[in-house]
This record gives sequence, C-alpha cells and structure tokens, in this order.
Amino acid sequence: MLQNTPETKTILRALAGETLSTPPIWMMRQAGRYLPEYKATRAQAGDFLSLCYNPDLATEVTLQPIRRYGFDAAILFADILLVPQALGADLWFVTGEGPRLSTVTVQADFDKLKPVDDIHETLNPIYQTVRNLVGALPPQTTLIGFAGAPWTVATYMIAGQGTKDQGPAHLLRNENNELFEKLLDLITKATIEYMSAQIEAGAEVMKIFDSWAGSLPGGAFEKYALAPAREITTELKKRHPGIPIIGFPREAGDKYIGFAKKTGVDCVALDNSVSAEWAAQNVQIDGCVQGNLASTHMVTGGQALVDNTRAIVKAFSKGPHIFNLGHGITPDANPDNVQLMIDTVRGG
Ligand code: CP3
Repeated sequence: MLQNTPETKTILRALAGETLSTPPIWMMRQAGRYLPEYKATRAQAGDFLSLCYNPDLATEVTLQPIRRYGFDAAILFADILLVPQALGADLWFVTGEGPRLSTVTVQADFDKLKPVDDIHETLNPIYQTVRNLVGALPPQTTLIGFAGAPWTVATYMIAGQGTKDQGPAHLLRNENNELFEKLLDLITKATIEYMSAQIEAGAEVMKIFDSWAGSLPGGAFEKYALAPAREITTELKKRHPGIPIIGFPREAGDKYIGFAKKTGVDCVALDNSVSAEWAAQNVQIDGCVQGNLASTHMVTGGQALVDNTRAIVKAFSKGPHIFNLGHGITPDANPDNVQLMIDTVRGG
C-alpha cells in the first residue's frame, strides 16, 4: 500500500513520466465564480484583487474546490496580471468586462516601471498564501503555483486590456521591436523571481500560462513563446533542481510538437482545439501531457460529457497524463457537471 507521502502524490508521479491507471485530475479556474462558496468569499473580500492579496481569504478559495471535489492538485489563487502590477502598472478589474491596465507603448511608459528587485514588496501576500496552503492541504494534494508567460502578460500591458487578436502587442512588436523586446525581457526576469519565490514558499509545481501563444506566427512563436519559456524553465531548474514545470502555449496547434523538448518543460498542457488522438501521437511521445476536455461540457453535461471524458482518458492511456479542461471553467458551469467529470475519470 502506498503512503500519501510527497513521493506518491499522483500529479508528481505523472509529471515524472509515470503512466498511471487512473490519470490525476485538477481543473483550470477550479476556484471560481461557478462555485457559490467562491462568490461568498469574494463578496467578503470586496473585489477580486483584494481577494488575491488577502492570504487568509485566498487560502480559503484555493481550498474550496479541494474540499468539494478532492482534486489531486490545488492551484494557488492569484492572477497573471499581479506581475505587471508589481512592476508598477496600474491594474483594476471592471466587473463583467475584465482587466484594465495602464499601457506601455512608448519608452517613457517603460521607464516608469519598477526594477525587478522591487516586485516582492507587492507580491509578498501571495507567498504568504503559498505558505498557508502548505500547512492546510491534504497530504495527497499537490500545490501548483503559476505565472503568465511573458508574451501573454505583455499583450495585456501593451493594450491595457484583453484583446481578441492581440493587435496592439503585434503592432509594437513590428513597429518598435526594441521596446517590445525590452518589455518581454523585463517580464521574463520578473517572472523568474516571482516563481522562484513561490517555490521557496512551498509550491511544488510551476505552470506557465501562455494563453495567447496561438497568435504568434512561426518565427515569432520561436522567439517570443518558446525562448522565454526555455529561459524561465532553465533558470528555475538551475535554482530549484527537480522542480516540475507545466507549459501551456494555448492554441499552439502544430507548434505543440517538440515544445517540451525545446523548452525543457516536464508537461505540455493542451487546449481542446487539438484532438487527444493527435496529441497522444505527436506530443505525448515526448512525455506528460495535460488536458483537454472542452470547458463547455461543464455547462452542458450529460452523456456527451461522459463520452468525451472517456475518449480523452483512453487516447492518453498509454503515457503520462493529467486530466484537465482545455481552458478555464466558465462562471455559467454547473458544479454537478464537474463531479460527473471526476466520477467518469476515476470510475471509468
Ligand atoms: O486556475 C485557478 O483557479 C487559479 C487562479 C487563476 C485566476 N486567473 C483567477 C481569476 C489563474 C491561474 C488565472 C490565470 C489568468 N488570468 C490567465 C491565464 C489563463 C487563461 O484564462 O487564459 C489570464 C489571461 C488572466 C487574466 C484575467 N484574470 C482575465 C482576462 C480575467 C477576467 C476574465 C474573467 O474570467 O472574469 C481575470 C479574472 C480572474 N482571474 C477571475 C479569477 C477567478 C475572475 C474574477 C472574479 O472573481 O471576478
């Protein structure tokens, strides 16, 4: 009988390359607005950012989906846009719309940003949340920390908000490449320090969210998605030997092939625009993969949820796999459908 020691945590075993008979499971945005208990704690905090920066309440919402569902991993409750804020950008959230930031489009904007060493002043409460979680999580549950990838974070810093096509960031990349690259480099260095501090506080896995990697064409993908992921991974592994890293170059399509080898990440997270069969043949051959059920099934449920969940488990059954959605769960999801997905993964 295996004990629930860190060595037997199923997520860590899959990340180390082990093929498990039942894949471990967690879910992007598992602490979120589809859960009534999340909405209650968020109301207590007042707003989303106050929740992120309150270690007690951030710990509580991180634990909520673990208590309700017994996921195999907890993901630190925070946001990828805290790094720009720590670098001195203004950040606020417009209810029902999303994030807003002061923009970086000219050298003078860049010059106003803070040096990397100053980020911890803002981010210290996040490290406290990590420390709280180390003491509060069940022994079999893996704690995942995260940050946004430099390209994705830059798209928000340049546009000042989310954009459909990342147009403003592509424009700066083409028209003032020097400034664009300086910004990317600053975010990369800040991300290394932020993730390193999370690991020191007790996070056991790091995930790099490159939500907008899919909009980078060929050579630009190599330079602005692959290379920063490789730099972050190399430096984190140098400082913290053995730390497992999950890369998520969302909507990379064919560029998922070889991503793990080229960057050094231990696992590639897949969105649901690629089929599990294709990914098993082309991506999982290099190691662990994570994904990739369409999050719409958490809204619609029923037999289609069961059939698609089973098909994904089967397609990835010959290699290391962590079950997850292809993107975050949405606020209109039904919590019962999450349970149905978990029961299907665990019960067959
Ligand atoms: O997965 C988790 O449960 C951990 C926490 C987490 C959040 N955001 C909490 C959050 C993580 C890992 C993120 C990552 C994140 N944040 C990404 C990358 C992943 C992705 O979704 O593509 C991005 C692009 C962001 C930036 C961001 N944060 C946006 C665009 C928004 C608004 C959209 C929305 O869903 O409202 C957020 C807000 C946000 N981040 C919420 C949560 C739970 C909702 C805020 C609320 O409670 O009102």
